[in-house]
Amino acid sequence: MPSAAGAAAAATSRKTSISPSSFAAVFKKDGHRRPGARAPTYPSLTVRSLSPLRAIRAQARITSHNPSVIILSGGPNSVHVEGAPSVPDNFFDHCQTNSIPVLGICYGMQLIVQLMGGEVKPADKAEYGRMPVHVVRDSVLYGEEMDKMQMVWMSHGDEAVKLPDGFKCVGKSDAGAVVAIEHAERRIFGLQYHPEVTHSERGFETIRHFLFHVAKVEAGWTMQNVLDEQIAIVNSKVGPEDHVICALSGGVDSAVAATLVHKAIGDRLHCCFVDNGLLRYKEGDRVMKMFKDHLHLPVTKIDDSARLLGKLKGVTDPEKKRKCIGAQFIEVFKEYKNEVEKKTGVRPKFLVQGTLYPDVIESCPPPGSDQKHSHTIKSHHNVGGLPKELGFELVEPLRMLFKDEVRKLGLLMEVPQAFISRHPFPGPGLAVRVLGDVCAPDALDTIRMVDEIYINAIKDAGLYDKIWQAFAVFLPIKSVGVQGDQRTHSHVVGLRAITSSDGMTADWYQFEPKFLQEVSAKICNQVKNVNRVVYDITSKPPSTVEWE
Ligand code: XMP
Repeated sequence: MPSAAGAAAAATSRKTSISPSSFAAVFKKDGHRRPGARAPTYPSLTVRSLSPLRAIRAQARITSHNPSVIILSGGPNSVHVEGAPSVPDNFFDHCQTNSIPVLGICYGMQLIVQLMGGEVKPADKAEYGRMPVHVVRDSVLYGEEMDKMQMVWMSHGDEAVKLPDGFKCVGKSDAGAVVAIEHAERRIFGLQYHPEVTHSERGFETIRHFLFHVAKVEAGWTMQNVLDEQIAIVNSKVGPEDHVICALSGGVDSAVAATLVHKAIGDRLHCCFVDNGLLRYKEGDRVMKMFKDHLHLPVTKIDDSARLLGKLKGVTDPEKKRKCIGAQFIEVFKEYKNEVEKKTGVRPKFLVQGTLYPDVIESCPPPGSDQKHSHTIKSHHNVGGLPKELGFELVEPLRMLFKDEVRKLGLLMEVPQAFISRHPFPGPGLAVRVLGDVCAPDALDTIRMVDEIYINAIKDAGLYDKIWQAFAVFLPIKSVGVQGDQRTHSHVVGLRAITSSDGMTADWYQFEPKFLQEVSAKICNQVKNVNRVVYDITSKPPSTVEWE
């Protein structure tokens, strides 16, 4: 899978056709430079090839994978920073000798330019978000079918100012910056923007063209392959007498993960649902009813709300909150393990987690890479937020999939629509939607009421399925208002709604003004202590979806 070298080279193997999981690697999205940060000026340092030892390891991995294609993915680094990810010395020659086309995306393209004798410089202005580019239609990279002008997703601070010998610019931004390059003869290509995100309108077609026409690989994998492969993996990991526990959240990921593991090991899977005090309005009861009505797996409800909220009281740092919640989840799972042991006589060794690939990318360095180029954006509780001493072996059958792929896998296993179409809800729950101390007076009660009104309004307007995720946020500030002819000094709440396909990038949803006007009036009229409603109009990047 990923990182053949420091630059996270995602390679597709020549021995097998491309699997959706290797697509996950290929389409892996960047980390981000801190939004709004000015492009730094660098000293004369520049990216170097790898140290001899790492170069040998990286080269060995490339040779043993025998890839059909190598994609040098993006990343938060600059080629001018010491220790930035790189490739072995003879990387490009090896690829040419072995007829391996190379595509660099964002940082990957800058690495190609810098290592092959061109020049990369900090751009005058960093570019984040959607913008138009103009491409050369009959180039090798784009083929003949491509639109000359297309909207793409940018997220970078450096840019190529001089191309290496033999390279042609085949795409430019409105401002004239180089956004696509190719060396047709050596079959080396680069894209400054992110073709792998849905907001790049023709991005998938560009990748398809590159893979299937330029590199001539074959795609023979289906979701059924993923299902069969993952069931086999679960069965090879979990012994025939072993028992496994799984925490269901009511969301699609845990429901799909549990269904898959149940298919593999049957009733040796034991499911629980933890009310940690950070759930939405009446969510505990609603979710238990959903399990009973639709999922047909026995689920034990555990109320841990008093304990967790006691621990979270006064904690305001977002990462500390996440880590505290992750640690407490594990405590609960250990207690549940004892309960299962009492019941079955076997101590469960395994814990199922609905970890997805974006959680992995955003929490830690790419799996399988031996690099230290981690750029933790958030410790997602499934991954980075877990304590080191778990006391469980993890079973993570969705770890290589994106959300849209998980939904497809769920449909294949006939997981009920009630789970499939539910908006995602993060593991740390309302803790990442109450900014600051979740135990602040009124905070949880207020946000539950606001969220309920907002989501019901979205459902009533027939918009729930058009929106990828919507929720309310409690801000740790008060504002002055006038209600019932009286001055008030009350809470401000934020509303967020996004469109996305995988949560890696997102656009804010453009409601009709009338909808926002009505929902704002409802909230201020019906929720005590709220006198102001704001709507979040930021995409990801530069923001993240959740506010913490
Ligand atoms: P961010 O805020 O990282 O969110 O842009 C992307 C998607 O991930 C969800 N999210 C989480 N899911 N555990 C989860 O299971 C977490 O810790 C977590 N943090 C964010 C978020 O709701 C969005 O759908």
